[in-house]
Amino acid sequence: MIKVIKGGTVVTADRQWKADIAIEGETIKEIGEDLKGDEYIDAEGAYVIPGGIDPHTHLEMPFMGTTAAETFETGTWAAACGGTTMLIDFCLPGADGSIKNAIQEWHRKSAPQICSDIGYHMAITGWNELIFEEMKDAVDAGVNSFKHFMAYKGALMVEDDEMFASFNRCKELGALPMVHAENGDLVDLMQKKFLSEGKTGPEWHARSRPPEFEGEAANRAITIADAAGVPLYIVHVSCEQAHEAIRRARQKGMRVYGEPLAQFLTLDDDEYLSKDWLHSARRVMSPPFRGKEHQDGLWAGLQSGSLQVVATDHAAFSSEQKKMGLEDFTKIPNGTNGLEERLAVLWTAGVETGRLTPEEFVAVTSSNIAKILNIYPKKGALVPGADADIVVWDPKISKTISAANHHSILDYNVFEGYEVKAQARYTLSRGEVIWAWGQNSQPQPGRGRFVPRPAFPSAHAALSKWKELNSPRSVERDPLNIPAGI
Ligand code: URP
Ligand code: ZN
Ligand code: ZN
Ligand code: ZN
Repeated sequence: MIKVIKGGTVVTADRQWKADIAIEGETIKEIGEDLKGDEYIDAEGAYVIPGGIDPHTHLEMPFMGTTAAETFETGTWAAACGGTTMLIDFCLPGADGSIKNAIQEWHRKSAPQICSDIGYHMAITGWNELIFEEMKDAVDAGVNSFKHFMAYKGALMVEDDEMFASFNRCKELGALPMVHAENGDLVDLMQKKFLSEGKTGPEWHARSRPPEFEGEAANRAITIADAAGVPLYIVHVSCEQAHEAIRRARQKGMRVYGEPLAQFLTLDDDEYLSKDWLHSARRVMSPPFRGKEHQDGLWAGLQSGSLQVVATDHAAFSSEQKKMGLEDFTKIPNGTNGLEERLAVLWTAGVETGRLTPEEFVAVTSSNIAKILNIYPKKGALVPGADADIVVWDPKISKTISAANHHSILDYNVFEGYEVKAQARYTLSRGEVIWAWGQNSQPQPGRGRFVPRPAFPSAHAALSKWKELNSPRSVERDPLNIPAGI
């Protein structure tokens, strides 16, 4: 059985051209003109792009005394409706501190529910012999990236010595270290100061974590990564201070990657000045939304390549859950939605305004992260043999984003009222149509798969070669064989 996506303009990270795409089973068979098949999917007047990959979600995550409301089922379904065919979720060790058990737990929760494919990052929330050992088990299980929280003091935060040890372990394993860059000690200090002054409202959340705290942590993480000789991925980059640190590191030849969020590119800190407590609390996340002056820089970073990936950090807490912080902003569960909206918002604010080309849009929503996370070209590419994760992207369907018509489990939407200019006409996951505009029929939960991501294969060889050639150097620099040119 051959399916043909017919009459569209194929867009990859490199180019766009008129072509049909033939799919056999789960993969792309051929891309060319006038292809014949047994079944046709109409792409006339639309773009045909690789399915979006959201590299940063927290589905059903236990966090701040509660659990994120979005389930693996509703999350992957909402993603599909918005043109995202794969997400990478953050796996968090439980009370026993075991990475191995955390992966089992994430499989147990996700496997029966997922409507499309997923992967995991692993959080490193402390440092001991067990974690050191089990990082290898994680890599063997296809989890090849480790996030370090420099904030959330007293909960998830790791100290510099722990981060350095873990980065070195990442180097041995050919894994990618990631950081949540905010100075957790200073955030903690500001939180205590504000609360002692009776400043308990959500507007103080943003003021307790200014951009300088993020910039400092980004610089520190980059320095530690340089000393350890590893690449570094900085999640949820929100401000110029962190972006500046990334630009400088890249100019020195380091492989440092930066991930702004769709929210940070389009929403700003005026959202915290609302008279309506709930409006502000629903937008509480870390780092917080920044002033408008930071947005131009983030857009420029996507254009120039100093920032490579747009994610959402989808961490959905209901209005009821947000109310846990009615008396104290430090108890408002941190997180905002965006999984379903990411592509449409980025298209509208990016491509429709001329900030991004359609090719750049594909690069930052799909191809770049597939390369960085070592799943390219199985994911993130339109080439024969690749998984048929494909979106027929219609630049003529406009819609007003609203909790009334979204597919997320959430009772509100931080993009409420935002008018988007494009939507997924069809979303295909490994050849199966899992979303068709106007039909709204959810695919079978559990049809999605966990996609293991291998260690970067020649990391050890490259490292020894680098050592051999550069033995007098006291600091080794970036020996991992991560694909260059991103
Ligand atoms: O506020 C946020 N970002 N919540 C999710 C956890 C994290 O730090 O990514
Ligand atoms: Zn400290
Ligand atoms: Zn984070
Ligand atoms: Zn996050």
